[in-house]
Amino acid sequence: AVKIVSTIAELKDIVRKTKQQGKTIGLVPTMGYLHEGHLTLASNARKENDLVIMSIFVNPTQFGPNEDFESYPRDLPRDTKLAESAGVDIIFAPSVEEMYPTDGGIYIRAGRQSEILCGASRPGHFDGVLQVVAKLFHLAEPTRAYFGQKDAQQVAIIQTMVRDYNFPLEIRTVPIVREADGLAKSSRNVYLTEQDRQEAAAIFAALQMAKEEILASGNVEQAAAKAVHYIESNTSGKIDYLECLSYPDLAQINDKTTDVLLAAAVYIGKTRLIDNLMFSLK
Ligand code: PAJ
Repeated sequence: AVKIVSTIAELKDIVRKTKQQGKTIGLVPTMGYLHEGHLTLASNARKENDLVIMSIFVNPTQFGPNEDFESYPRDLPRDTKLAESAGVDIIFAPSVEEMYPTDGGIYIRAGRQSEILCGASRPGHFDGVLQVVAKLFHLAEPTRAYFGQKDAQQVAIIQTMVRDYNFPLEIRTVPIVREADGLAKSSRNVYLTEQDRQEAAAIFAALQMAKEEILASGNVEQAAAKAVHYIESNTSGKIDYLECLSYPDLAQINDKTTDVLLAAAVYIGKTRLIDNLMFSLK
């Protein structure tokens, strides 16, 4: 059965004993309200490690003042059952006070990769993500940590921190898990009304159209404009961004670019949804 741990002291104790036995640890950081995307990360961690730790923590420091920290969906009993079915051994579900008992005013600041896409519309968001992820890495001492391609910018930024600050672990990424109509699974999909939910499928459809156009014509601007038009004419939503950048550096595409990220954020009703496709130009 899965064990729920809410204190740092107890988690560190488990981690110490696991390491003493020479066992590997897989860490799956989440904010809970689990869906198949999260569970795929957990199953992958299960296959590759002796002990699987999933953190469930709605991290206040990555939410802006007018964002949905308070209303973010939470259901630990439900998550516990789902995590258990995916083979999680330990759920680390600390309180905010447990994670942030003090504030010495020392922060991690995400770099260039955070100036665009979600970073541009959510100032400080990736700093907060790095803050909690760095703490989780120190606490769980994972051999491998699992992140979804759904948040492509997030995983690119975390990779950079791990590389530049020598975190002794491997980042593993997992492809986006989608609903039957292509909508990327997200804990925030529960905010969608029935009408919103139907419209939301247009985001993936638009990205796919744009990808095909980019591969066929190489005209990124025109492809993006068509995708924007498609979303605007098939939804009542408002586009935050729709962009094609080089990956993982997240810079403008040039002649040397091989791998690209085609990413969008769209408000459907009040809900901000993100999605992306990654592919190779050559
Ligand atoms: P959360 O949104 O709960 O997502 C946890 C992990 O699940 C992330 O790595 C995310 O990319 C992955 N994920 C979400 N939806 C997915 C989908 N449809 N397919 C595949 N993977 C998916 O991302 C966060 O939490 C937080 O920022 C966190 C990293 C936990 C730091 O607080």
